[in-house]
Amino acid sequence: MTATARFATAVAHPNIAFIKYWGNRDDELRLPASSSLSMNLGSLYTRTTVQFDPSRQEDDLLLNGEPASPDQKHRVSEFLDLVRTMAAIQLKASVSSESNFPSGAGIASSSSAFAALALAACAAAGLQLEEPSLSRLARRGSGSAARSVPSGFVVWQAADLDDESFAVSIAPPEHWSLVDCIAIVNEGHKAVGSTEGHKLAATSPLQAARLAGAPQRLDFCQKAIMDRNFSSFADLVELDCHLMHAVMMTSRPPLQYWLPASLAIMDAVRTWRKAGLSVCYTLDAGPNVHVLCPASDAETLLARLQEIPGVIRVLRANPGGRARLLD
Ligand code: DP6
Repeated sequence: MTATARFATAVAHPNIAFIKYWGNRDDELRLPASSSLSMNLGSLYTRTTVQFDPSRQEDDLLLNGEPASPDQKHRVSEFLDLVRTMAAIQLKASVSSESNFPSGAGIASSSSAFAALALAACAAAGLQLEEPSLSRLARRGSGSAARSVPSGFVVWQAADLDDESFAVSIAPPEHWSLVDCIAIVNEGHKAVGSTEGHKLAATSPLQAARLAGAPQRLDFCQKAIMDRNFSSFADLVELDCHLMHAVMMTSRPPLQYWLPASLAIMDAVRTWRKAGLSVCYTLDAGPNVHVLCPASDAETLLARLQEIPGVIRVLRANPGGRARLLD
């Protein structure tokens, strides 16, 4: 690399997990305890610019135009160290990142953030990685970011070795026109972040049972997606969500992410489904509810969700593509 500043900009979508990642077999390497399955969220994105700059003494991070907290800067600097080692450079970087959705509230903002950062930082450092290697690298920043690198519907394989745990696309976005209507009931940052939460998973007596059934749930969910079988998909997605939240609630200390409005939405979804609407829900580590349906039912669903007391607004996302460089 020359002594001049080098920069690149990348865009990545967050993803929603249908079969969840909760708990690591190796926290340092972010090797997950079980494989997971997700869909990228097309209308939501993080756009990140990285500039390696010979005149910088330390890394700098702007999030949505504001200086980031020391903890956020530290996490990004540690991640950039991985890229610097791979590229054999020592230059410090300025990073500027913007998202068009609330962060830290269960919309997996770290997934799009670290996928975009991985791609932009590699390009700025002159590295060209194949998709599996980029997914592995993004995983080191945030586990779910591994799944925001490939396109559409994605499986992230659990493995004991660093070079075997990456995500691959199982179907492109156009395979199934599912819609995720994200009912926002709280825009704030969650009290306990996922990184801390993963470390508590093994303290729940339910985690072993959750993990024992995870490979089968993933296989069945993948089949439901390939067959576009909504009713089987709905059963598996809600079961897997409940299992993860049962582990969260029974870990020591317990984690409880739901708000009264989250429960009201879950209740309404079950009622609508009984009445014939193709709809189901899932929640990540936060109170906002991802309500899934085929595109044909999305308008009806959006209107109904907006009526529920406590719903601040509803975001809508179709299946999204892979992380990509701009320019
Ligand atoms: C509940 O990927 O955010 O959203 O690796 O510590 O950054 P870190 O955790 P993160 O965990 C995501 C947890 C989840 C479920 C999922 O997305 O699979």
